Amino acid sequence: MYETPIYNFSAGPAVLPESVLRTAQSEMFDYNGTGFSVMTMSHRSDVFMSILYHAEQDLRQLMDIPDNYKVLFLQGGASAQFNQVVMNFANGFKRVDSVVTGNWSEIAHSQMGKLSDAEIHLAADGKQYHYQNLPPVSSWDISPDSAFVHFVINETVHGLQYREVPKLPEGMPPLICDMSSEILSRRVNVSDFGVIYAGAQKNIGPSGATIVIIREDLLERCSDRIPDVWNYKSHVQRDGMYNTPATYPIYISGLVFRWLQSQGGVAQMETINTLKAKTLYDAIDSSGGFYINNVHPGARSKMNVIFRTGDTRLDELFAQESTTRGLRLLRGYKSMGGMRASIYNAMPLQGVEALIEFMKEFQKRYG
Ligand SMILES: Cc1ncc(COP(=O)(O)O)c(C=O)c1O
Repeated sequence: MYETPIYNFSAGPAVLPESVLRTAQSEMFDYNGTGFSVMTMSHRSDVFMSILYHAEQDLRQLMDIPDNYKVLFLQGGASAQFNQVVMNFANGFKRVDSVVTGNWSEIAHSQMGKLSDAEIHLAADGKQYHYQNLPPVSSWDISPDSAFVHFVINETVHGLQYREVPKLPEGMPPLICDMSSEILSRRVNVSDFGVIYAGAQKNIGPSGATIVIIREDLLERCSDRIPDVWNYKSHVQRDGMYNTPATYPIYISGLVFRWLQSQGGVAQMETINTLKAKTLYDAIDSSGGFYINNVHPGARSKMNVIFRTGDTRLDELFAQESTTRGLRLLRGYKSMGGMRASIYNAMPLQGVEALIEFMKEFQKRYG
């Protein structure tokens, strides 16, 4: 299609594996001999039920999700989860512990209390590090009596990531993790979490599907007073079919899961993601200060690499010129400026290498 490859560094909705898009293209008008598109079939048809079933099974295999966890594909994005977790799991509790480490956990923190009488307790505040480092888990001020502890494991905007996956000691409340921008990028032990949720549109598929993985015993907290559409228990009791799920995004997510399996699974992704991130951070750090990333080395995200030149006009030029070279959507988040390269699972190492080549050449011209 294009003479030079196009590399999409968008933070989300983000790059998808080309082979997945080609399969979707070939099945657009006729899915598996049915004569019609997945987009146009009933969510209760055997064909779609099978797509959903296999998507869940493949996700379970990839993440090694234990049997006592339920998997849901909901709508509303990760933002809906900020409130839904409180509605469902804080019932009867006086306190929720909330860890703030950047843009998304700050929003979560501001939203969580809106439909609850529980105190949303600021358990840690990354603002003290100007969102350039992360408060260590050992410093989180959490109480065994809290309903749960909420945190964001990878801050997509500030380019921060808990490099060591947080785990709470025995006797502490369940850990609820927003894993939107890193799910399936590295191995995690699902049993260390009460709930994991993630909008699909970064490391999985198109926007519209939100994956929620819930430890079964927590469902007992879901009061019948919660409207069914917001009630996790209702969704689980109806096998994720309480209402119409986001059928097409689920289908694409299923294709991505198969692709991940064909690539060697999450362990293999972790190896490649580590290499991609190291290569890019090394290029930034060895630029003699031309490119700057101020995130503490131990908290740098392997998914969202932020950098700037220190000159906003040059940053703008970088964004413009890189676009003409097929390096797309590198502009930083609106409140942050600078550049952001999101290097999710579907970004090949060659994309990172092409970016680095351009960075070097740009520096030669303007450095
Ligand atoms: C870590 C994180 N949480 C939450 C969100 C919000 O997701 P959504 O737009 O699906 O509500 C985003 C989106 O970028 C994100 O990166």
